[in-house]
Amino acid sequence: MKDVLTAPFMVEMIRTVTNMYAHGWDERNGGNVSVMLDESQVREYLDGAGVKLKIPTGFTAPSLDGKYFLVTGTGKYFKNVQYAPEVNLGIVRLTAYGELAELIWGFEDGGSFTSEFPAHMMSHVARLKADPQNRVVMHCHPANLLAMTYVHPLDEREFTRTLWQMCTECIVVFPEGVNVLPWMLCGTNEIGEATAEKMQTARLVVWSQHGIYGAGKDLDETFGLIETAEKAAEIYMKIAHLPRLNTITDEQMHLLEKRFGIKAREGYLED
Ligand code: 13P
Ligand code: ZN
Repeated sequence: MKDVLTAPFMVEMIRTVTNMYAHGWDERNGGNVSVMLDESQVREYLDGAGVKLKIPTGFTAPSLDGKYFLVTGTGKYFKNVQYAPEVNLGIVRLTAYGELAELIWGFEDGGSFTSEFPAHMMSHVARLKADPQNRVVMHCHPANLLAMTYVHPLDEREFTRTLWQMCTECIVVFPEGVNVLPWMLCGTNEIGEATAEKMQTARLVVWSQHGIYGAGKDLDETFGLIETAEKAAEIYMKIAHLPRLNTITDEQMHLLEKRFGIKAREGYLED
């Protein structure tokens, strides 16, 4: 059988979390990533692999029954993933309407999937409904987006408009805007449900005073979404205390809509 460490999905996951750490988004064990895998991808590398462990998830997600996920471990440091992927990552299959996760590979030190598993799985459910191509949910703690949640109103329209105004291409990358949750206790089903609800209308959900969630069809797209929002937040944090002499106007945003064939979230731009 082929070595799962050479699988493109594994190589890409290791590269991505290494890059997230290099960007300073994932101090210590901060952040978590889950990628939904096709059964054929898993069979190619792990056919016949037994179930190592059955872990109760603490929630129900019938639409994910039988689905496989490559996921980061709880308490694991992204900086270490490249040196010991089989300890820091795991491949699980959800069964019993999502109430059980069968560990097929990984977490070799007896570890388990991220404490944010509910937010990840519930977000997958929500995003798959909005876009059947969605495969990735990513959470991290980028400093400028986090900083912004201390000094900027959390109103989603205002928050989105500020980010759009910070770089010309923001509105092109996330025309649906950014949804925002107030501070909530992390690692719970409650924050998972709240995140999933916000994921129905946007691929980016800010967790105030904590971090951000992104979703997309692959790791590159999802990383790029967070990277773009974080860049905009960085510019905001550089200029927020200075008089604003110039900005990107709504009229100019409408030109971007036409040029790039995108549609800004309804009601977020003035006519
Ligand atoms: P885990 O180590 O359990 O993935 O938690 C990290 C984190 O960022 C919690 O929000
Ligand atoms: Zn976190």
